[in-house]
Amino acid sequence: MTDSPQGPASPHELVLSLRGVSKRFGAVSALTDIDLDVHAGEVVALVGDNGAGKSTLVKILAGVHPPSEGTITFRSKNVTFDNPSAALTLGIATVFQDLALCENLNVVANIFLGRELNPLQLDEVSMEIRSWKLLKELSARIPSVREVVASLSGGQRQTVAIARSLLLDPKLILLDEPTAALGVAQTAEVLDLIERVRARGLGVVMISHNMEDVRAVADRIVVLRLGRNNGVFLPDATNAELVGAITGASNNSVSRRVERRQPQGTSTQERQQP
Ligand SMILES: Nc1ncnc2c1ncn2[C@@H]1O[C@H](COP(=O)(O)OP(=O)(O)O)[C@@H](O)[C@H]1O
Ligand SMILES: [Mg+2]
Repeated sequence: MTDSPQGPASPHELVLSLRGVSKRFGAVSALTDIDLDVHAGEVVALVGDNGAGKSTLVKILAGVHPPSEGTITFRSKNVTFDNPSAALTLGIATVFQDLALCENLNVVANIFLGRELNPLQLDEVSMEIRSWKLLKELSARIPSVREVVASLSGGQRQTVAIARSLLLDPKLILLDEPTAALGVAQTAEVLDLIERVRARGLGVVMISHNMEDVRAVADRIVVLRLGRNNGVFLPDATNAELVGAITGASNNSVSRRVERRQPQGTSTQERQQP
């Protein structure tokens, strides 16, 4: 294990650890007493119903909101972030749901957006080469880095946003609903990309509503309910178990419906047959 925030994370190093993290907005308790661990080379899916506190947790880790209580340990050090660039400098990169790409700019410009005058001090050609290299390492299917983002598919945009977040060599990447707006083929592409990010040794936290996507890529599934931890599952958990933890009832109408349609142990493909 290394203490340097710049050094590589050793395999299975505990990259991030939250203990007792709470967040109140006035009278609203968005998060209460949250514990969360993420290791290097691990994808942790963060699931929960609307209002469960997922986005608030991501915003705390991204340096958007300070926690009201609790400790955040990142690479063996207690950390606080005053702002998003502090989190990024430490090695925590976030891809927010809206991606924050500029439609009218090309892929290179988007990857380097806001970093043109950073210590890297790169010229156009170097930025283009760096972008290609990054996208190639990710086996990303982008036709040309000179393509404007407006002409890219949803999956390609997500790819550009993820590539952009990797530019400063983070140790942890947070993805808020990376597949929410995507069709089947593009979702598969983004899930492959997430696996390649994990293979680079990063810790990944992925928020998702889609249990199939979560199962396909997550090493562990962390459930939040009403702002609290409500179980940690392996991807072989049944839909009934997951839905039960998400909704807070093991015998509710959602899980009964799922069980009627999907006897335990059936595969995804079998489930799609009538
Ligand atoms: N900036 C804010 N001000 C006040 N309440 C907020 C704010 N952000 C989130 N909340 C509240 O915190 C709770 C959790 O919200 P959120 O983190 O967005 O949940 P999720 O992403 O799981 O849907 C909700 O009750 C929401 O209304
Ligand atoms: Mg949200």
